[in-house]
Amino acid sequence: MHDGDTLHEKDGKANFDLIYNLEDPREYFNVLQEFGYSIPQHGQRLFSALLEARREKVGERPLRVVDICCSYGVNAALLKYETTLDDLYARYGSEELSSLSSEELAEADAAFYRERRREKALEVVGLDVARNAISYGISSEILDAGFAENLEEDEPSDALCRAVSGADLLSVTGGVGYISERTFERLLDCALGERTPWVATFALRWVSYEEISEALSAYGLITEKLEGHTFTQRRFTGDEEREYVLEELEKMGVETAGKEDEGWYQANFYLSRPADEAKVPVKKLLGL
Ligand SMILES: C[S@@+](CC[C@H](N)C(=O)[O-])C[C@H]1O[C@@H](n2cnc3c(N)ncnc32)[C@H](O)[C@@H]1O
Repeated sequence: MHDGDTLHEKDGKANFDLIYNLEDPREYFNVLQEFGYSIPQHGQRLFSALLEARREKVGERPLRVVDICCSYGVNAALLKYETTLDDLYARYGSEELSSLSSEELAEADAAFYRERRREKALEVVGLDVARNAISYGISSEILDAGFAENLEEDEPSDALCRAVSGADLLSVTGGVGYISERTFERLLDCALGERTPWVATFALRWVSYEEISEALSAYGLITEKLEGHTFTQRRFTGDEEREYVLEELEKMGVETAGKEDEGWYQANFYLSRPADEAKVPVKKLLGL
């Protein structure tokens, strides 16, 4: 399923770069399934609850999500269509689809998703540095629009900026650490003068969120960490990764008993909202 190159260690953390920019998502799902990658499933639950809350305010117009580090459109698939992460693992690992070319798979996907569209109108715009993944997200119609840009290094294109202005929610799963406050600042600059989107992210517990929440506050966004809950991201790839992460967390004074020491990366959930929209605590908003 993967070779030594796919998973060489980088700073103690396994490196999955080789599955991020392929012609289609089969290898991505096959490799990540082996490690129980599960954060997009938590994302479906929490982001959907947030979208429900936003929908009550905005009425019938379609809501717009900008999913950052969107890959092949994983969160878009889960939010726009009646499907689960397990369904996607089963689909992209299936014998039946294994002989299709990437173009044929994109066509089959477009038909598959078209039949499963959720009733409530939602547009998902994807941003990822991986050009092939974005192309697939667009050709399979999983994404409504997609941009292969790296805002850590460059200013956003005008087209991306236009797509971001008017967004209701910026979401991230599995991406904080790859992106810093710089990406959020450049996206939020696009929304200046428009409504300010909410920002909802899952970030691994060993990754500091301080710089990002500070940067968001300059745009009038108040960040709240969901207390009392952590979310499994994936299993460690082996002892080396596990020991490294446990040591790092210990240095940070984070209690790992019953969490990472069970063999899983754990993520925190953060929600940032404009002050006047942040009256209901995140826990209550999510019904947790
Ligand atoms: C672990 S994957 C997460 C993908 C997806 N959100 C999910 O949860 O399945 C991380 C993604 O971040 C993307 N990425 C890395 N650096 C980035 C950057 N500077 N800007 C945008 N995306 C980036 C990678 O290409 C990859 O698709």
